[in-house]
Amino acid sequence: MKLLQLFLTGWAALASVTASCSAEQKPGTPDTGKPEVTDTEETGDGTPQTPGTTGGKTLVVWYSFTHNSEKIASALLTHISADVLEVEPAEEGLDYAANNYAIGSSLIAAIRNNPSSASSYPTIKAVDFQPDNYDTVIIVTPLWWSQMAAPMQSFLFKYGAAMAGKTIGLIVTSASSGISDVEKDAKRLIPQGKFLPESLWIRSSQVGNATQLTAAWYDKMFPTQNETTAMKVKITAGGKSFTAELEDSETGKSFWGKLPLTLEMSELNGNEKYCYGVSLPRKDAYYDTVAAGDLMLYSGDCVVLFYGTAGGYSYTRIGKIADVSGLAAALGTGSVSVKFEKQ
Ligand SMILES: Cc1cc2nc3c(=O)[nH]c(=O)nc-3n(C[C@H](O)[C@H](O)[C@H](O)COP(=O)(O)O)c2cc1C
Repeated sequence: MKLLQLFLTGWAALASVTASCSAEQKPGTPDTGKPEVTDTEETGDGTPQTPGTTGGKTLVVWYSFTHNSEKIASALLTHISADVLEVEPAEEGLDYAANNYAIGSSLIAAIRNNPSSASSYPTIKAVDFQPDNYDTVIIVTPLWWSQMAAPMQSFLFKYGAAMAGKTIGLIVTSASSGISDVEKDAKRLIPQGKFLPESLWIRSSQVGNATQLTAAWYDKMFPTQNETTAMKVKITAGGKSFTAELEDSETGKSFWGKLPLTLEMSELNGNEKYCYGVSLPRKDAYYDTVAAGDLMLYSGDCVVLFYGTAGGYSYTRIGKIADVSGLAAALGTGSVSVKFEKQ
């Protein structure tokens, strides 16, 4: 009765940086010439977490009674590529909400009374879950009586130990109740999981906005992944803009981190514009030939944008402009101000 009262009360009621380049000649250069969130703060083992860095495969596991979690999982899957697993109660056709949520409430009470006994958890249909295939598991579940919905608890009771060391994301939908107890359930059931620093809470009234909410949460949780697939830079000079894709390297990421940037670039050799004073990680290689559109690092601190063919020197590639039509004309024949910004 106390549970029912609680339930009814709670539920019914980038600054732009301009770098001035030195006008020095590049040494060795020929004279001629990309819902709402709650802080969870800790992992299951109490270690604070940083955003996820998985590069491997992701599994989205969902359970849904009135289709909200199902819609949320589908929305997330329009943004990421992942395998999907539905958790289903073995007993079909049960109305967990009937008679003031009687069935749902007794299932939750059974788990609360004895969380360590398998017999407290409702039986679910067999699933083909291969934990070794995944680095990341994202759980999408409804909240029942402030806890994780019983069928999802059954799934995690069975497989939570097998998720040790995996990155775990939690998305919870409720009518209005806060999700902190669901987070506790997840951490109890996946004790060795590496939980993302924030869970996503989507109220029933927000489900129509799930695409934006899940994408924003995911991109915040996996910033590196997002950047490596989206390091596109808009380069503007002489009133014209071009798109460069940065290298998925320390050099490319470091340059990305400095944007937006406006460089006053000097002319050299009728084929390049350069600017000293931008230090980036360096991994030089010798280039017989460089082409128009190549964005290179020279000597560890000089950004070079080629608008014609050159070569014969060592550089570290920062990125490349694919479509160079009009590049030479936009850069002109003398010094030029070039703006680099995230696209
Ligand atoms: C058995 C049961 C208990 C629920 N308990 C709560 C609750 O305590 N607080 C709340 O805000 N919503 C509660 N809800 C509402 C659901 O959390 C909410 O409608 C959710 O979006 C449903 O997700 P689904 O459509 O994926 O099943 C409950 C729903 C059911 C079926």
